[in-house]
Amino acid sequence: MKATIIQKLLTPLLACLLLAAPVHATEGVAQVQSLRGIDVQAADPETVVFKLVVDREPVKRNYEKQPPVIPHEVENYKITQSFNKCLECHSWTDAEEGGPTKVSRTHFKDSSSTDDSNLSKRRYFCVLCHVPQTDAKPLVENSFKPAKVRK
Ligand code: HEC
Ligand code: HEC
Repeated sequence: MKATIIQKLLTPLLACLLLAAPVHATEGVAQVQSLRGIDVQAADPETVVFKLVVDREPVKRNYEKQPPVIPHEVENYKITQSFNKCLECHSWTDAEEGGPTKVSRTHFKDSSSTDDSNLSKRRYFCVLCHVPQTDAKPLVENSFKPAKVRK
């Protein structure tokens, strides 16, 4: 008997809550503005495909210790567990004399070991730090000035 009274009281209350929830949800959506500035319901704008810059001279670094940017195309240069295309030209063992710059000596150092005869695991995925360049225009102006390099 008690259970039925509770049920009778709770059922309309639950119904009210369930009905009220969607109303709030729709109100929320109307106020949401995506970070891209377009309406969340609108179709995505067409994707712009940027062209990789053609091979050129190495690019001057902007500050000390900057990972130099890649001055050549890297399309189809695969880096997998067993193969690293970049090392074909940039490793110390395979690089030709007077050829492409060898990977930095710093890339052999590993904070967790003293063995510096192998490339550090942390440096294996070159494109984590070295980025190829495209013809994309800068999105914002940049007035960055590097600190004076120590002599
Ligand atoms: C076919 C040979 C070849 C391959 C493969 C290659 N590179 Fe290069 N790379 C060059 C040459 C040539 C240069 C220009 C001369 C130089 O500075 O070493 C260069 C320059 C660079 C530089 C600029 C060095 C500096 O001091 O400014 C970086 C960084 C670089 N490559 C990274 C990469 C990465 C990362 C990959 C793999 C995704 C790669 N390269 C694959 C030949 C190659
Ligand atoms: C964790 C970031 C990181 C990764 C990963 C990395 N590099 Fe670098 N690289 C740097 C930085 C920073 C420098 C500049 C300072 C220095 O020499 O350590 C540099 C310098 C270089 C240089 C210029 C060396 C010189 O003598 O001027 C070459 C070439 C290069 N890296 C190639 C590579 C290649 C090829 C790989 C992949 C096998 C790689 N790097 C992976 C950060 C990275």
